[in-house]
Amino acid sequence: MADQQILVLGSTGTIGRRVVQQLSPSDARILPASRSGSIRHDWNEPATWNGALFGGTDAMFVMAPDGVGIDPRFLTEAHQSGVTRFVLLSSKAIDVMQDERLLAAEQAIKASGAEWTIVRPDWFNQNFSEGFLREAVAAGEVTIPLGEMRQAFNDARDIAAVVAAALTEDGHHGQTYELSGPDAITFGEAAGMVSKAVGKPIYYDGSADAYIRTMTGFGLDRADVLRDVEAFEALQARGDSVPNDTVKRITGKPPRTFADFVEAAATEGVWSES
Ligand SMILES: NC(=O)c1ccc[n+]([C@@H]2O[C@H](COP(=O)([O-])OP(=O)(O)OC[C@H]3O[C@@H](n4cnc5c(N)ncnc54)[C@H](OP(=O)(O)O)[C@@H]3O)[C@@H](O)[C@H]2O)c1
Repeated sequence: MADQQILVLGSTGTIGRRVVQQLSPSDARILPASRSGSIRHDWNEPATWNGALFGGTDAMFVMAPDGVGIDPRFLTEAHQSGVTRFVLLSSKAIDVMQDERLLAAEQAIKASGAEWTIVRPDWFNQNFSEGFLREAVAAGEVTIPLGEMRQAFNDARDIAAVVAAALTEDGHHGQTYELSGPDAITFGEAAGMVSKAVGKPIYYDGSADAYIRTMTGFGLDRADVLRDVEAFEALQARGDSVPNDTVKRITGKPPRTFADFVEAAATEGVWSES
């Protein structure tokens, strides 16, 4: 739809930035929004939920940063202002991990009255290069209480490609897409590949004890950390992630491997100071 207008929330973030890159300006007018973006949006400031975001917008990529919820009033206002399609960034395994924040976000999108698509990715590859594991790579120790469980890491570029398809094509309404990368590997194997690229040891400790020690050492509240550990135990009880063909089915292209990601990130020099 050449005259379509698409608003991208979290447009400076890991996924939002790549959604903007994937959308073609010749097919749609793209509005990147965030607190620091050219169009201002703040989940904590309802005064920013106004015509600058909603005026003329047909479709919207909806994401909430870690720890922030989706306010259903935002979706209602957007839909009443003419937004007819929402694509939500959610996460895999939120049911078993009892992630109330994202479960509520999914409910809100479904109840919005607009067309909706939910995208549930596995762990992002880019956690190691720009996300919450960036500092762990620099420190040479990754601690996630998942032992030797295999995770089907997703590349942010593939997630964004699925989001872009759901925003611009018909046929995705009412779908919840569970995404995966092509392989399921352990955090230890992933850390090993990054270690080779960085050229220094990066140890992985998958025990709950190490995680509790590390997180409380960063000053996190012990009760919150113990709740996280419980959620990780529930994820472990579910078993290894099983790769699926959803990325290929939606985008026509096979998902990128973790090794592809490491090579691209190293070439870009993202770990050059690690
Ligand atoms: N990491 C994973 O492996 C993983 C896996 C599955 C799902 N997820 C989910 O993915 C989401 C995180 O996505 P991401 O990694 O792309 O995010 P991110 O890189 O942390 O970026 C957050 C984005 O939100 C914006 N932002 C921050 N605070 C805001 C606020 N109060 N109001 C409006 N915008 C705000 C930021 O820009 P400004 O600073 O300019 O506002 C930025 O554009 C979370 O919901 C997480 O649960 C993560």
